[in-house]
Amino acid sequence: MPDSKVTAIAHPNIAFIKYWGNRDDALRLPSNGSISMNLEGLTTTTNVRFNSLLKEDLLTLNNKKLSGPALERVRTFLDLIRSIANKRIFAEVTSENNFPTGAGIASSASAFAALAMAATKAIGLNLTEAELSHLARHGSGSACRSIPDGFVEWYSGDQDEKSYAASIAPAASWDLVDCIALVTIGHKEVGSTAGHRLANTSPLQTARVQDAPRRLDICRSAILKKDFQQFAEIIELDSNLMHAVMMTSTPPLFYWEPQTLEVMRAVRNWRGQGIPVGYTLDAGPNVHVICLSSDYEKIKHNLEQMSFIQRVIIAKPGSGAVVLSN
Ligand code: DP6
Repeated sequence: MPDSKVTAIAHPNIAFIKYWGNRDDALRLPSNGSISMNLEGLTTTTNVRFNSLLKEDLLTLNNKKLSGPALERVRTFLDLIRSIANKRIFAEVTSENNFPTGAGIASSASAFAALAMAATKAIGLNLTEAELSHLARHGSGSACRSIPDGFVEWYSGDQDEKSYAASIAPAASWDLVDCIALVTIGHKEVGSTAGHRLANTSPLQTARVQDAPRRLDICRSAILKKDFQQFAEIIELDSNLMHAVMMTSTPPLFYWEPQTLEVMRAVRNWRGQGIPVGYTLDAGPNVHVICLSSDYEKIKHNLEQMSFIQRVIIAKPGSGAVVLSN
């Protein structure tokens, strides 16, 4: 096989209905379906070059050569691609994020979406969007949602092949803005992979999972109807439910800081005053404040008035993963 080099980009995504806990951790078969929005402007750019002279896979992230668990995770993922392509050839992977690492913006989603896209093309596979999403899921669950465009639903599926994500509405369909309020930067936390393994130790997880189809229906229809009130209420409920499960796991996971709660309260107050705004949180203390683009400057200004907020990052609905060049 001649050496081949492909670059792809992908955006991280923010989940409105969350993925927390797996039915099968090794396969990343989630306990429930989820819905998210890709984040435009925040980008992972990944170049993959398969090279017959290499003796092992190499990984460079943000100009730093990586070894240890990060490299192992990428190697395991490349093994999967090699087995599908039935080729034994190693790769040099170079990846860059244009958003701050340690800012609590999940980079594994955009990382594995861009890697799936670039590596399959570079090794000579031509996968469909659903196949790519299914593949990216094996690298990081939420990565399957960074493959399709805009507003995306991950169908949990009852077996490996049926668990992948698809677009439910294009990025341009609703002019939402995610104002990411950074409460702490670089705070050490329990990562998502370890967190998913604890979900079933919470007595609340069963109820959260059982009620998920109802929340998915409400969230999907709110996005399609652009009903902000319904949308804000369901995303806040879903985020609170996930954090309730986290806090009641063994050992418990507390991601909130006192300032996190202060932002959540402020958002609910602003909504009470008639501003369409709602919050959602990932596995970290930073708050994703979702509003309409007509209001985002005011919301950003309000957030920046809170002295403890270090920075507000703005992201509009983003496209799916794409190949840049061969
Ligand atoms: C809280 O997809 O990062 O952001 O599959 O182990 O890589 P792994 O986990 P990951 O989990 C994301 C958890 C979340 C909620 C969500 O994005 O749905």
